[in-house]
Amino acid sequence: MTSNSPSVHGSQPWLHQKGEVIQEFGTVKQFPVALSYEARMYSCQRMNKVLADTQILYGLYKKHHWLMRGATFYQLHLVLDKHAGEQLDIIDTLAERVQSLGGVAVGDPRHVVEITSIPRPPDGVEEVPAMLSRLLEAHETILIDAHDAAARTAEYGDDGTVDLLVSQVIRTGERQAWFLAEHLVDTPLVRA
Ligand SMILES: [Fe+2]
Repeated sequence: MTSNSPSVHGSQPWLHQKGEVIQEFGTVKQFPVALSYEARMYSCQRMNKVLADTQILYGLYKKHHWLMRGATFYQLHLVLDKHAGEQLDIIDTLAERVQSLGGVAVGDPRHVVEITSIPRPPDGVEEVPAMLSRLLEAHETILIDAHDAAARTAEYGDDGTVDLLVSQVIRTGERQAWFLAEHLVDTPLVRA
């Protein structure tokens, strides 16, 4: 023990610790959950893609929640934040399912951008219909991927992943896309 090391029985925290990576991204541990190694590897890979895209969608929702403007500012400001909160719940559920299958969930935003296929928006402010269209397109990217991932993980017998993708990712995404799309209908507000 060096002179500046905390004593074994002391109350000084061990600060500035460094360690080796003990599980690499893209690997799965053996867990006794009645799913094969191949099934768990495949599900974790597919869920990490959906997880990365969903983290980007969450970020887009918050960005547009902040940047919204115009006559319907308040309504859109609120609904975009509600959708963001629901996507945040899905992010946590996806990440924890990756962990429960023995995998490693993508978490750092700089790692997320290496995996996502959702285009980066301008740093500035787009017109309102363009912002809403951008969110709709992000939803459809995730929905296409989630439908395919659900069908393929079903072939491996991974019912829990199928259920998460269908009952949360797909059904929430479809409902949120509906709410966005109805804001893009050009309908008269006062006179028919
Ligand atoms: Fe807010």
